[in-house]
Amino acid sequence: MKRRILVTGGTGYIGSHTVVELQNNGYEVIIVDNLSNSRADVVDSIEQITGERPVFEKVDCLDYAALDGVFAKYPGIEGIIHFAASKAVGESVQKPLLYYRNNLVSLINILELMPKHGVKGIIFSSSCTVYGQPDILPVTEQAPIKKAESPYGNTKQVNEEIIRDTVASGSPIHAILLRYFNPIGAHPTALIGELPNGVPQNLIPYLTQTAIGIREKLSVFGDDYDTPDGSCIRDYIYVVDLAKAHVTAMNRILDNRQKDKVEVFNIGTGRGVSVLELIHAFEAATGVKLNYQITGRRAGDIEKVWADPAYANTELGWKADTSLEDTLLTAWKWQLHLREKGIM
Ligand code: UFG
Repeated sequence: MKRRILVTGGTGYIGSHTVVELQNNGYEVIIVDNLSNSRADVVDSIEQITGERPVFEKVDCLDYAALDGVFAKYPGIEGIIHFAASKAVGESVQKPLLYYRNNLVSLINILELMPKHGVKGIIFSSSCTVYGQPDILPVTEQAPIKKAESPYGNTKQVNEEIIRDTVASGSPIHAILLRYFNPIGAHPTALIGELPNGVPQNLIPYLTQTAIGIREKLSVFGDDYDTPDGSCIRDYIYVVDLAKAHVTAMNRILDNRQKDKVEVFNIGTGRGVSVLELIHAFEAATGVKLNYQITGRRAGDIEKVWADPAYANTELGWKADTSLEDTLLTAWKWQLHLREKGIM
């Protein structure tokens, strides 16, 4: 019998790619999503890719009773991948209580429901944002957690602590915290990808929207940082590689291969790429010339961060293996698909 997994936020950007990889690896997937930042037709697209329709329940993880009902309706759920969360850094500064409520209460509900329904493991979407500006690069999982730059970042830190405290208190659950670096790109079929609401805040959607003519010019936020070309450096990871890390992590929990009941892995490539390098890589990969200008720094930006993924490579047995060029091509193909479909 197939192992049954609950994916919260499963119609979202990273969630949808992970559902595909879970199905490709023989898991049965139940999606819950409140569709606050995604579309229900993502379920159709997933079915188109895998030939298998995941169960979809429109449920908000803040609704304890509704979530309880999902576990009752689909008995035998063995693991949860918890993506559902608010994720806009700027908005979190404007609406901190919304972020604390959404991101903390959802996780608390899930952690309370797991033992009740005999769910063994949870994979939590954490972020390299917990490291702030690391003192040593590449950054390892042992690096100190720095004071969060935003309420959003703080919810990631607090959620990690909530999981640790819950396990330490004797809850029978197992957990893996995946600290994502910067996920980009889209599924190679261009049937699923990132669908930003309004004006994109993140680099890649802004860049591809500029390339296709929706935005006039991409602003490069600062070229006076202490980096080789002066622009900020990040570790851009292909979303499908990232999705695969969740499958590997879920296998590890369910096959009893964990070293500790709570484990942490950096999910990045180990390659630092500057904003200007990324722009040039996009131009080289796609042949599309990009209109951009250097503007002032963006408040709250980290100067440079990239992962040491060695622990994930050796211990988890996972490695990001898609080139930056191939990744950028998928992002561009996705933008062209959105145009073709008249979505954007
Ligand atoms: N950038 C630009 N122009 C833009 C947008 C971004 O130059 O229009 C630059 C930023 O200054 C930064 C880089 O591109 O140097 C990447 O910016 P993103 O907004 O794409 O990503 P961040 O690294 O700022 O943030 C991401 C996630 C957050 C998460 C953070 C750390 O969006 O949710 O990584 O994990 F908290």
